[in-house]
Amino acid sequence: MASVTSLSDSVQQHLASALSASLPEAAGADPLLRRSDRADFQANGILALAKKAKANPRELATQVVSQVAAGDVIKEIEVSGPGFLNITIADRAITANLAARYADETGRLGVPLAAEPGTTVIDYAQPNVAKEMHVGHLRSAVIGDSVVQLLEFTGENVVRRHHIGDWGTQFGMLIQYLDEHPHELDHKGGQVTGEEAMSNLDRLYKAARKKFDSDEEFKTRARRRVVDLQAGDPKTLAMWQKFVDESKIYFFSVFEKLDMEIQDPDIVGESGYNDMLAETCRLLEESGVAVRSEGALCVFFEDVKGPDGNQVPLIVQKSDGGYGYAATDLSAIRDRVFNLKANTLVYVVDARQALHFKMVFETARRAGWLNGDVTAFQLAFGTVLGKDGKPFKTREGETVRLVDLLDEAIDRASAVVREKAQDLSEQEIAERGAQVGIGAVKYADLSTSANRDYKFDLDQMVSLNGDTSVYLQYAYARIQSILRKAGEVRPAAHPELELADAERALGLHADAFAELVAEAAADYAPHKLAAYLYQLASLYTTFYDKCPVLKAETPAQVENRLFLCDVTARTLHRGMSLLGIRTPEKL
Ligand code: ARG
Repeated sequence: MASVTSLSDSVQQHLASALSASLPEAAGADPLLRRSDRADFQANGILALAKKAKANPRELATQVVSQVAAGDVIKEIEVSGPGFLNITIADRAITANLAARYADETGRLGVPLAAEPGTTVIDYAQPNVAKEMHVGHLRSAVIGDSVVQLLEFTGENVVRRHHIGDWGTQFGMLIQYLDEHPHELDHKGGQVTGEEAMSNLDRLYKAARKKFDSDEEFKTRARRRVVDLQAGDPKTLAMWQKFVDESKIYFFSVFEKLDMEIQDPDIVGESGYNDMLAETCRLLEESGVAVRSEGALCVFFEDVKGPDGNQVPLIVQKSDGGYGYAATDLSAIRDRVFNLKANTLVYVVDARQALHFKMVFETARRAGWLNGDVTAFQLAFGTVLGKDGKPFKTREGETVRLVDLLDEAIDRASAVVREKAQDLSEQEIAERGAQVGIGAVKYADLSTSANRDYKFDLDQMVSLNGDTSVYLQYAYARIQSILRKAGEVRPAAHPELELADAERALGLHADAFAELVAEAAADYAPHKLAAYLYQLASLYTTFYDKCPVLKAETPAQVENRLFLCDVTARTLHRGMSLLGIRTPEKL
């Protein structure tokens, strides 16, 4: 099924050709079409164009109007104010366009695929081995997953990379401790749960830390282990692998709870670039991008200075020969650009790492790994705050465990579902509770622009009113219930029918889905999609209040309204799935 041209694109095309007929030098200019309260669309671009051509804007606008052939799409076009154009769309065109979207059997609602897709590597959902996941990891996973869905929906080739923290000096301590207490990671047998895996790791981590801080000899042995690890000593590596495997059991359990698919081959942690580190340093040093300073290999930046006014370098290799976070990230860039053939690199990482990425990207540019054809972008996210507006902590001042948060969200949501439930079994309540609870957490995160901090407020998140996923899920479920009640009567488009205002508003908004998705994907901005969907659900609520569906006046009107309901439902379903959120059929 071919893609469907949206109404606003059709109007845009009409205007553009009328414009170039009236004012040849304006060929290709943007008439600046917007949705408007005064008419369906308003074009504001004539003013600037007239000014440039030293013409009278109202006259130019009038001329453009006379050139626009009132046709299938445009019902009315008139000049307003100093030279705006107000455009009204024919009811028939609204219904017919939606019918074309509805007929798209691929389920894409007529949204086009990119003609020449590129390859984007997206770095997200990157927790650290042997450590508990916290709310920061939630944001990276949730935002990243949605951006992946959005990009793939537009046709982009997407490669996922989970750059987990699985390398570094702390492993010396852990491995040494495990070597001296070999049964600490043994399992009782049977299936190990994520919870168990994490508590094993946590216990071992605490014990190892304690010994490391109190026993000088152990410290020395632990330091030697780091060297063994980096040198690839097989026994040391085997023990390191145990930590990674145990952690993965835990990670996968959390991602499953988050209703998110993470594939093992996409987990390429810091350790995955170990073999490239020396060469990365050599390339940087030979090209002069990095220089030796007090033994360390450093890259300097004019505008990165410490409080004392001296430049603070990016350290690629420490004076003791060790490699850190920067060396790994620079090697990852080489891998992503030269092996994975990416055009775009996106990093969904906490805004507090902005300086790191600024320096890493600039270094890669100087080295020629990034350039006009290959760009990198940090999709930086803000901090999750508690109700008090301070970074989210437990009452004891500790960082909040992600699992506890998710469990609480699911409990709260289950209570909401139970209260409203009419004909749901216990099992259904549990299932819906999870879908609503996890949806609530994801939506709260995705509905504010990523770079802003947001308050983690479960009461607000599971509220049925307001800009929440539950509100959207209920809108969807309500439509499904109407469609079920309709029984034999099936949705069908009747373009010949005149539309009520609420129907037009809903229909025009539903038709704009494709543009919205394109914009949200291009800007890596799931919050734009969330806002669109919220508005769609609100317009649906108005439509539902104003326009009886099953009790509409004529059979054709019943079918047409069912059709509008179903188009809305499909758009909600598709849009929510791009946010990683389920839309249960019944709530
Ligand atoms: N593991 C890191 C953390 O927990 C995030 C990794 C981000 N990605 C990267 N390529 N540096 O903060």
